[in-house]
Amino acid sequence: MSFSVLKRSFSTTVGKNAIKNVVVIGGGLMGSGIAQVTAQAGQNVTLVEVNGDILKKAESNIGVSLGRVAKKLFKDKPASEAEKFVNDTKSRIKGTTDVKSAVTDADLVVEAIIENIDIKHKLFKTLDETAPAKTLFASNTSSLSIGEIASVTNRKDRFGGLHFFNPVPMMRLLEVIRIPETSDETYKSFMEWGKAIGKTCVTCKDTPGFIVNRLLVPYMAEAVRLYERGDASVKDIDVAMKLGAGYPMGPLELADYVGLDTTHFILQGWHKKMPSEKLFNTLKTVEKLVKEGKLGVKSGEGFYNYKK
Ligand code: CAA
Ligand code: NAD
Repeated sequence: MSFSVLKRSFSTTVGKNAIKNVVVIGGGLMGSGIAQVTAQAGQNVTLVEVNGDILKKAESNIGVSLGRVAKKLFKDKPASEAEKFVNDTKSRIKGTTDVKSAVTDADLVVEAIIENIDIKHKLFKTLDETAPAKTLFASNTSSLSIGEIASVTNRKDRFGGLHFFNPVPMMRLLEVIRIPETSDETYKSFMEWGKAIGKTCVTCKDTPGFIVNRLLVPYMAEAVRLYERGDASVKDIDVAMKLGAGYPMGPLELADYVGLDTTHFILQGWHKKMPSEKLFNTLKTVEKLVKEGKLGVKSGEGFYNYKK
């Protein structure tokens, strides 16, 4: 598998906009990866979290992931080069819990917080009041409407979706989502920026799940239903899709990897909006596991146990 990392140092320049300073909000699974690949591409990153402990965990996760990237990128080079790559990348990431001061000189804000429209609205209202006019806003939402998220701001022309995939340092795709108000200049900046951080960009309208999740989430949900009916075991479903269809992970393994809370929030949101679409019905097993705090890989247990 090839890496989507680039050892180059430049900023994205389109028209008047030069993206050099990027603010990533949320340092969980996705935000820490987005911060990492942005810094790897030579840009300055400010990573915002809700408290110092979570911020430290995010920084530590980035360190571990950078170590894995460096091990591959510099496998035939002296260790000092790998060390320099890791340290230089880390030095470009600044952590903070103060969202208002973080955005004062931002060219681009990428939001990667919990999949909840009310919480995202609260954040974007604050951001819109605080960030300078030049700042472009993007959400990494998996399933919510970009137009609905942007509705609380006065910069819909400078708003869009930038949808990354987990694990961000490894997955080469970036979905760039336009809403009708997104200006051509903003769209071009997003596409240029995606390329600059090493991603292949595709464009999709603001429709539920965009391209990948519209196909992938119903597939994962059908796998859970297969298990709930007692048709096959968790392990056999995963083995079947890996060996029979060539997927790198089975669907239940993947649900654990994405996060069962995120998987549940996605289906819950779509079911509320489209109750007659049976593919979007919520899943009893996933709901139960989430209630028990079993969120998948990130909490140590989900369909599988990762604590051993
Ligand atoms: N950071 C850096 N490097 C990583 C990494 C990470 N987080 N994860 C894997 N790697 C690299 C490392 O070099 C690793 O080697 P080491 O273990 O020696 O460090 C190498 O990849 C191989 O990793 P693994 O042995 O763990 O396993 P793998 O070969 O199966 O690759 C995988 C891992 C890339 C995750 C692969 O299993 C895969 O592609 N899985 C499917 C992921 C997928 O479908 N993602 C999309 C989810 S949907 C989504 O994201 C959208 C949404 O909105 C929900
Ligand atoms: P996560 O639970 O791993 O991380 C979310 C982080 O956001 C947490 O660390 C939390 O402390 C932080 N946070 C919450 N409110 C905040 C605020 N107001 N300010 C700053 N930080 C805040 O979740 P995740 O999996 O990284 O998902 C984040 C977003 O990315 C969601 O919208 C999700 O749908 C989307 N997404 C997830 C995946 C995936 O595979 N997990 C893939 C693509 C997109």
